[in-house]
Amino acid sequence: MSNLTITTDAPWVNGLQVLETMTPAFRENLGPPEGVEGLMSKYNIRQLYQDPVTTRRIDHVRADPGYVDLTCAYHDSVEECLVIGGAVTLDGEGLMELGDYFWRPPGFVHCAWSENGFEAILMMEGISPTDGSGPVSRVVHPHEIAGSNPITTIEEDALGPRGWVRHQASGLLPWASLPEDTWSNNDALQARTLSFNVNTGAASRIVRARSNTELPSSVSERERFIIVLEGSMRVSGEEKVPAIGLIHVPAGQELNTIRIETGTRFMLKTGPTL
Ligand SMILES: [Fe+2]
Repeated sequence: MSNLTITTDAPWVNGLQVLETMTPAFRENLGPPEGVEGLMSKYNIRQLYQDPVTTRRIDHVRADPGYVDLTCAYHDSVEECLVIGGAVTLDGEGLMELGDYFWRPPGFVHCAWSENGFEAILMMEGISPTDGSGPVSRVVHPHEIAGSNPITTIEEDALGPRGWVRHQASGLLPWASLPEDTWSNNDALQARTLSFNVNTGAASRIVRARSNTELPSSVSERERFIIVLEGSMRVSGEEKVPAIGLIHVPAGQELNTIRIETGTRFMLKTGPTL
């Protein structure tokens, strides 16, 4: 289990402390400096995963009522989000409520505001050539061009290998068997596919167990991020991973025995094959 990362006790961080976790290309482009402290005072995160090389990050985010981005912007990275509470409006994209998901390719301009606050799993893909994603950054653009993509003249080319999943109500998606190449599960797990890379088969899914399930130790050629949304899992019959906790298994590495209770749901992000 040496290459496994399990995050269960990430503390909540608020305000200017959050800035310290951001890449300079992000935190230096939030908007007028005099507004940053007020903006961040309404922004709280639990950092579940961060890769300093690719700049990938996965955060459990809670924004307080009245949160409003100082400016609109695009990112050079793919941004991905699953709303798990409250609601947030994204300019040019719509109102995102409980269970709503998006996968936004780089370059599309947006900004966020939330009257009553929201809670989400927020993911920046970071450098990933196969998913068409660059480093985490923030590039300010005017409100008037929200919803468009100024880094390309051909918008279809900007969509990348998963397309732009702009606003998907995950609760309306069908359950299917979880493909064995993502996690050998003998048909014990069912999944809703949120986004899917048509070239590599990398995907983000919501997964549930059909019944109380114990999966034997497994190795997958795909990197796995498991983010517990409801219920809990037990690794090797010992370590309990509750909501919202994360398990990271690098490609080709072993994940030990996992016990999943009925009613547990988790997000599963799987990468390209080695
Ligand atoms: Fe964003």
